[in-house]
This record gives sequence, C-alpha cells and structure tokens, in this order.
Amino acid sequence: MKTDSRFPKLHIVDHPLVTHKLSTMREKKTPSNSFRQLLRELTYLIGYEVTRNLPMEVRTIDTPLGKCKASFLAGKKLVIVPILRAGLGMSDGLLDLMPSARVGHIGLYRGPDHMPVEYLVKLPSKLDKRQIILCDPMLATGNSAVAAVDTLLKRGVCPEDIKFVALVAAPEGVETFQKAHPEIEVFVASLDEKLNKNAYIVPGLGDAGDRIFGTK
Ligand code: URA
Repeated sequence: MKTDSRFPKLHIVDHPLVTHKLSTMREKKTPSNSFRQLLRELTYLIGYEVTRNLPMEVRTIDTPLGKCKASFLAGKKLVIVPILRAGLGMSDGLLDLMPSARVGHIGLYRGPDHMPVEYLVKLPSKLDKRQIILCDPMLATGNSAVAAVDTLLKRGVCPEDIKFVALVAAPEGVETFQKAHPEIEVFVASLDEKLNKNAYIVPGLGDAGDRIFGTK
C-alpha cells in the first residue's frame, strides 16, 4: 500500500492487478459491461485492504476431523453505504465480500457550483452500533463525500466507525475531505493529478455513473 505525505489518512492500494484493471477502465473504448465488471473486481482488491483490521473472535468449532479453535469476524455489524448513483458500482462488490452486511443509500446530485444536494437517505436502524463502509468511485471535489459523512454523523455514527472507499481521487478532493473529517481513513486505487474546471478528475476515467450504467 502506498501513502502520500500530504494526506495521512489516505491509503493507495498499489498492486499490478489494480493498476492494470484501472488502466483498462480509464480507456475510452472500454464498454459499460467490462467497466462494471472491472469496477467490481477492483472493489474486491481494495476491499481486501479496507477490511484488513476488522476485529476477530475465536470460537471452538467441530470440523469433520475433530474440534479446533477458529477465528471469525466479530465486532460491530457492517453497513455498506453507496453514494448514489455511481457508488452502486462498488457496493455490489463489497456485498460479495461481506454478504451479511446491511446496505444503506445516500443520494446526492451535483447542484450549482458542484455542491451536493441530498435527495435520498435510507439507512439501517441502530447506526451508532455499526461500522460503515461508505463508497463512491470518484473522490473529485470531496464535497459529496463530506456531505455523506455529515449525514452519517448526524445519525449518531462515530467518525472512527466510518471508512471511505473510492477508486480514483483528486488531491483537491482528498484535501477537502481530510480537512472536514480528519479521523476518517480513505482507500483508493489511484491518486490522480488534478480536477479540471468542470470538477472532473484528470486523467480520471470520465463520468463513472454514465460509464457504469451506459447512460449519456
Ligand atoms: N464524477 C465522475 O464521475 N467523474 C469525475 O471525474 C468526477 C466526478
């Protein structure tokens, strides 16, 4: 895993498979079905690191050959929260890894000046007793990620119980996010160069939602 001295909570998953799959996603000619599949596979690879420090507990189990002590996931129940719409492209992969997790949704669209406007919040109960994995493939301005975390905090979640997962981040977005929520760890496959004047990540991969769903 790579780090960046500017951003203490940023983890960049650095692996040949991650780089290859992300490069393929960046290509303009990659069709939606391949784009979706690659995003799912990349989510598995990033998800492996996001979940690395989940608490475990030891139980005694019966195997076909006798008893043994075996470790299982323990601790707070997991909730996967995609930021709609592009976050859905990552929540499926996270759910494959953690099939018993609950799924919440936060819907935000880009309003004037690229500021997020909330249009949907649907979250499981007892949120303060859960560990949240918030996902959105593009950490661009950081405004949506900040707003989504604000929504979770307002409902009683502790910042230490939230991890944010993206595919590609812009330095501007990571800076904004870490200024607003310095305790929250962020996992990405790439820290790209910059944002353009339309708040798209450069080189990025274009509009993640449109490419996942084949819209435009
Ligand atoms: N959202 C996207 O889908 N792509 C970007 O580059 C920035 C925000």
